[in-house]
Amino acid sequence: MDTPSAPVTVTVTGAAGQIGYALLFRIASGAMLGAGVPVRLRLLEIPAATKAAEGTVMELMDGAFPLVAGLDVFDDPAKAFDGANIGLLVGARPRGPGMERADLLSANGGIFSVQGQAINDGAAADFRAVVVGNPANTNALIAASHAPDVPASRFTAMTRLDHSRAVAQLAAKTGAGVGGVRRLAIWGNHSASQYPDITHATVDGVPATDLVGQAWIADEFIPRVAQRGAEVIAARGASSAASAANAAVEHMRLWVQGTPEGDWTSMAVPSDGSYGVPEGLVSSFPVTTAGGEYTIVQGLEVDGFSRARIDASVAELAGESDAVAGLGLI
Ligand code: NAD
Ligand code: LMR
Repeated sequence: MDTPSAPVTVTVTGAAGQIGYALLFRIASGAMLGAGVPVRLRLLEIPAATKAAEGTVMELMDGAFPLVAGLDVFDDPAKAFDGANIGLLVGARPRGPGMERADLLSANGGIFSVQGQAINDGAAADFRAVVVGNPANTNALIAASHAPDVPASRFTAMTRLDHSRAVAQLAAKTGAGVGGVRRLAIWGNHSASQYPDITHATVDGVPATDLVGQAWIADEFIPRVAQRGAEVIAARGASSAASAANAAVEHMRLWVQGTPEGDWTSMAVPSDGSYGVPEGLVSSFPVTTAGGEYTIVQGLEVDGFSRARIDASVAELAGESDAVAGLGLI
């Protein structure tokens, strides 16, 4: 008989929000860490939303998930991250009417600096985080800079939703199943400037660029993927929730359990200077994962079209980084 795993402590922020509601039940079911791994769920919310989070806890109890080994709600980041192995940082301040970008960065800076400090002070030695709350890349940068004792590489931001959107669009265009699409990559920021790259992708083993034309890539595929968040908001009247939760589960599942042989995922990670992305910027790259570590895929040829797209998105990230530095947030 296998030895039962020790419970893993997972802290979810913004737990009473839309994504939180879709995410917690997936984690409880074992979709993220595996069917044999018990989880202690720690839900962080702002005081006004802890009652709603308690309601979600009631539902999680009523689900009688065998893997759930603990359920707690907090409004104090220090308590919520105490002993955490994994953080899913979903809660963020949405842009309000008349709010300038600097106001948004500043409001989120207040949230992610405090959470970074709490992680630094109390999280477990193997702590790792994915930031979902927007602007996700720069929020991850802020959290990492307030957790000097935690390796910055453990703070990542989510571009798996963009990756999955790109896989789905390419599969639909070529008539393949989504499982046939491999080695796709998202570069840069989780924003409209991102670069979904099919240069190295294959569809059922055939190079994707043999199956679709450059005009479709430039005029339909890239804008569709990059604007998909806005397209969903226009249709639903609210931002993507279940698909974002699914992507967060996939991001962490792949990080912990590994990418399949011959395939990649996309993660926004602190740059080590690869592909000319300035060191430290939290930028999306194609990565492989094994043994709980990720590695940026090296040695890919970057053509002129790709270079320009990557540079444009990285320039946006550098601008965000300068702005939060100017606000004293990093
Ligand atoms: P939501 O408004 O439904 O929920 C957000 C929750 O966060 C709220 O319950 C709020 O009370 C909570 N919150 C706010 N500040 C907090 C704090 N300091 N500590 C703890 N909780 C706090 O929003 P949602 O639809 O769940 O989306 C959450 C975030 O994810 C947004 O920023 C959204 O733009 C972003 N998002 C990112 C992606 C991505 O691909 N990276 C995709 C979709 C949405
Ligand atoms: C998405 O990609 O769906 C979201 O980041 C959109 C948003 O602004 O919440």
